[in-house]
Amino acid sequence: MKKIIVLGGTGFVGTHLCEKLAREGWQVTVPTRRAINAKAVMHLPRLTVRQIDVHDEAALTQAVAGHDALVNLVAILHGTQAAFEHAHVALPRKIAHACLAAGVGQVVHISALGADSLQPTLAPSMYLRSKGEGEAVLVQAAMGGSAGDAAQAGFDLSILRPSVVFGEGDKFLNMFAKLQKVLPMVPLAGADAKFQPVWVEDLAMAVVRCLSGASAQPSPRVIEAFGPEVLTLKQLVQISAQLSGTGGGMGRLVIPLPAWAARLQATVMGMAPGEPMMSLDNLESMKVDNVATGKHPGLDSLGIKASAVRPIARQYLGR
Ligand SMILES: NC(=O)c1ccc[n+]([C@@H]2O[C@H](COP(=O)([O-])OP(=O)(O)OC[C@H]3O[C@@H](n4cnc5c(N)ncnc54)[C@H](OP(=O)(O)O)[C@@H]3O)[C@@H](O)[C@H]2O)c1
Repeated sequence: MKKIIVLGGTGFVGTHLCEKLAREGWQVTVPTRRAINAKAVMHLPRLTVRQIDVHDEAALTQAVAGHDALVNLVAILHGTQAAFEHAHVALPRKIAHACLAAGVGQVVHISALGADSLQPTLAPSMYLRSKGEGEAVLVQAAMGGSAGDAAQAGFDLSILRPSVVFGEGDKFLNMFAKLQKVLPMVPLAGADAKFQPVWVEDLAMAVVRCLSGASAQPSPRVIEAFGPEVLTLKQLVQISAQLSGTGGGMGRLVIPLPAWAARLQATVMGMAPGEPMMSLDNLESMKVDNVATGKHPGLDSLGIKASAVRPIARQYLGR
C-alpha cells in the first residue's frame, strides 16, 4: 500500500483530498500544528494525524521518511512579507530538503493561478510573489539541482495552480452567502476582477491523477486548475446570494467600489483582529485576472472535465 503525507491536509482542499486518497486506498499521514484542527479527517480509514511543527526541518524530515509521496497545501492568505516568505518559500525549501533526504519520489505542490516560478517578482501581491518563489525552490530541487545543497536525483514534481476553489466548506462562496443574509447591500472591492472557479473535487482528482502518472507532461510539470466559466467577483457574489435564497433568490444589490474606496475598505478590513475577510494584499492580487493563461495545460490534460459553479454550489449553499 502506498504511503502519502499531506501537509495542510486539515484545510478546505486538504479535507476533500484526504477523503479521496483514503477512498483510493492510500495510507495517509496528516501533520498538523494542533491535533484538534484535524477533526474533519481523523476518522478516515488508514489516516494518521501527527501533531508536529512542519517548519522544524528535522521534525519534517523524520515525518516524511517512509512515504512514497508528499502533497503540500500549506498556505496563508494574509500576513506580512515575513509570514508569506515563511509559509510559501521557506517551507517549500524545507520540504525539498526533506524529500531529497528521505527519498520521497513524488511531490504535488498546490500553488495559485497568477504565480510564476520563472518571474516571481512580476506578480502584483506578496501572496503571489511568494507563491512563485516557492514554486521555483521546488522546481530546482526536483531537477536534481540544489535546494540549497543536495546534488542528488530529485523527485517527480507536479505544480497545480488553481483559480479560486469552490465546494462544500469553501470560505469564498459560503462567506459571501452568509454576509448577504445580514447585509442589505454589498459594497464590493475588486468587483470586476475575473476568476475561473474550480470545484474542489476536480482539484483533488487532479492531485490523484498526478500521483498516478496520468500527465503526459514531463516533471517538473505545471497544470492550471480552472473551471469552464470566467466570472467576475461581482457575479460570484450575486450567485452566492441567489443560490442561498437570499432576497427571495434575487440576491442583494452589489455596489462596485471605486479604486480609492476599495483600498480604504481593504486596509481597514486587513487591520481587523483575527483572520481578515480581505486585505490590501488580496486587492493587489486581483490586479491580474485569476484565469487560465493558456501557457500551461489544464485539468483536461489529466482527463478531468471541470464542473461549472452553479450546479455544485446550489447543493451546499441551498441548504
Ligand atoms: N481555497 C482557494 O480558493 C484557493 C485558491 C487558490 C489556491 N489555493 C491554494 O490551495 C492550497 C490549499 O488551500 P485551502 O483553501 O485548503 O487552505 P486552508 O483551508 O487555509 O488550509 C491550509 C492548511 O495549511 C495549514 N497551515 C496554515 N498556515 C500554516 C502555517 N503558518 N504553518 C503551517 N501550516 C499552516 C493549516 O493546517 P493546520 O492548522 O492543521 O496546521 C491549514 O489546514 C493552498 O496552497 C492555497 O494557496 C487555494
